Amino acid sequence: MTATSEKDQIRIFDTTLRDGEQSPGASMTLEEKLQIAEILDEMGVDIIEAGFPIASNGDFEAVREIAKRSQNSTIAGLARAIHADIDRCGEAVKYAGKGRIHTFVSTSPIHLQFQMNKNQEEVLEIITDTVTRSRNLIDDVEWSAMDATRTPIDYLCRCVEAAIKCGATTINLPDTVGYATPDEYKAMFEQIIERVPNSDQAIFSVHCHDDLGLAVANSLAGVAGGARQIECTINGLGERAGNASLEEIVMAIRTRGDILPYETQIDPQFLVRASKMVAGASGFAVQYNKAIVGKNAFAHESGIHQDGMLKNAETYEIMRPEDVGVKATSLVMGKHSGRHAFRDKLRELGFELGDNALQDAFRRFKDLADRKKHVYDEDIEALVEDEINILGE
Ligand code: KIV
Ligand code: ZN
Repeated sequence: MTATSEKDQIRIFDTTLRDGEQSPGASMTLEEKLQIAEILDEMGVDIIEAGFPIASNGDFEAVREIAKRSQNSTIAGLARAIHADIDRCGEAVKYAGKGRIHTFVSTSPIHLQFQMNKNQEEVLEIITDTVTRSRNLIDDVEWSAMDATRTPIDYLCRCVEAAIKCGATTINLPDTVGYATPDEYKAMFEQIIERVPNSDQAIFSVHCHDDLGLAVANSLAGVAGGARQIECTINGLGERAGNASLEEIVMAIRTRGDILPYETQIDPQFLVRASKMVAGASGFAVQYNKAIVGKNAFAHESGIHQDGMLKNAETYEIMRPEDVGVKATSLVMGKHSGRHAFRDKLRELGFELGDNALQDAFRRFKDLADRKKHVYDEDIEALVEDEINILGE
């Protein structure tokens, strides 16, 4: 279903170049990052998190260069709750037409005790200090409560209140360790938005990791709870099991517009191209059965499915492959394929067999498919030519 203007606009914040690149072994060169940023900008991503400027000179350079080149997207950089990080980030994003400082601090008891060695009051002071410092550098400031989903709600309310008071324009409540369930995540947003004074002065954001395979479901649940920005990555690239996948979120919103009254400004035609680009740059191949962009996402082998697809594509496809940049559905010939699809394949290859010859060729094709994992067009051609020779003898 196509989006209409009555729907709520959801901002897509892509963090492939920051959280995605944090996956062990996924680091990308400057040239690769520039190319990915270009396609993200072109496809309609609202905010590109281009890197972590304090992390290295290379990261700083990448964020600054992407900031200089971006045409439409806001360019964000990440900064810990440390003055040097915030200042470095401000330096890198100031070249963007629209720049953002994204600063974060942990709020959960386990992080306060083992990572920060600070108490709750000290962390509240840090939030006040660092959000204020960021706002003195730039108007667009996002503040994240790291490990929000394992933070007691009363304390989280106080943290969010402090960040908004100091001028944070986006409040991100991440499920940093991928621990939440959809109902819990939705309830957290509802409560925070309801309880925090002036919560309407900020946009709330979801940021979900996929440790339990719930990142996309949780992101959509957070939106149902009132969030209006989704943080995600191409191919779901990210720390450990990854982040919520951008292509899945965008297509879920487009395909289920009947019950998800939202729209994004992403042009889905770019999704497969962006996926291939990120897979190539990161070296992380996309699994065949990955939703939307996997090699098999629009491929059918079973006879029943192929038969249905030949009559009406909607029998087994809920999205059109062309919409996400795939040329066409593919009917893969294998041992599960039926006679109907086999005859269609023969026609495509330029063969028209009579009933008996077709029957015989189909039987030999099935025998071949039992022995061979992949049956290519060339195998079918050879088989049919053989059949024709046998008939001619
Ligand atoms: O997962 C997380 O909490 C993060 C923050 C830095 C936003 O990536
Ligand atoms: Zn993250």
